[in-house]
Amino acid sequence: MARRKKIYEGKAKTLYEGPEPGTIVQYFKDDATAFNAEKRAVIEGKGVLNNLLSEYFMTGLNNIGVPTHFLKRLNMREQLVRSCEIIPLEVVVRNYAAGSMSKRLGVEEGMQLPRPIIEYYYKDDALGDPLVTEEHIAAFGWASQQDMDDILSLALRVNDFLSGVMFGVGIKLVDFKIEIGRVYEGDFQRLVVADEISPDSCRLWDIETGQKLDKDVFRRDLGSLTDAYTEVARRLGVMPKTSTPIGKPTLIN
Ligand SMILES: Nc1ncnc2c1ncn2[C@@H]1O[C@H](COP(=O)(O)OP(=O)(O)OP(=O)(O)O)[C@@H](O)[C@H]1O
Ligand SMILES: [Mg+2]
Repeated sequence: MARRKKIYEGKAKTLYEGPEPGTIVQYFKDDATAFNAEKRAVIEGKGVLNNLLSEYFMTGLNNIGVPTHFLKRLNMREQLVRSCEIIPLEVVVRNYAAGSMSKRLGVEEGMQLPRPIIEYYYKDDALGDPLVTEEHIAAFGWASQQDMDDILSLALRVNDFLSGVMFGVGIKLVDFKIEIGRVYEGDFQRLVVADEISPDSCRLWDIETGQKLDKDVFRRDLGSLTDAYTEVARRLGVMPKTSTPIGKPTLIN
């Protein structure tokens, strides 16, 4: 069988050419990175969990009419998605203060925000993904005013959906990041939620205990990242099939 053509190797995923024009295959790796790849590790099973969780969230969004790039999952580590032109922004939605916003503004982590706050970061690893305003986005032509209106509406719909789903399983959606892609249909273009939605790109805290169930476990050395992501998958009912525990042999008298 001919080897598939690799399009891009990122920190967490590898992209291959898909079987049909306009499609690509996302392969979820076990690599974890933080602080702009200064901290790295290989975390066994992370790719499988993120593939299943991203499928779960993207399918839910598609079902409620929020367009995403997701087409179908191919196997435990790969999914077929529509190929898009990624808008070079990380769109962050925050419901509670945490991470860089807490540091920048001196607000305590965990403080509930009076309303969801949207932030934009320019996707550029060499610059460390700097925070930008809509002024920069318009002036440098990264997105049009129409795009920005659509991005805001998509981001808020994703926030409402994800907050509700997570609340249902006892988890607080503190914040998350999405990427937005352009897809062309004839003469028209529209925006879709792309990349991934997983505990790598969200902050998820247990409502009762405050336990962190996201990539902060890795960033801050708080224990096993696999255990945290497995807990999220278990609560949502999306466990990898291979993880069914096989009992130890028992002696029969
Ligand atoms: N549907 C899509 N079509 C095209 N590119 C996509 C799509 N979904 C995600 N991407 C891009 O694929 C790459 C995914 O790889 P990964 O998340 O590992 O990258 P990364 O190391 O975070 O790098 P980057 O800084 O490029 O995001 C990202 O560059 C992302 O923007
Ligand atoms: Mg990425």
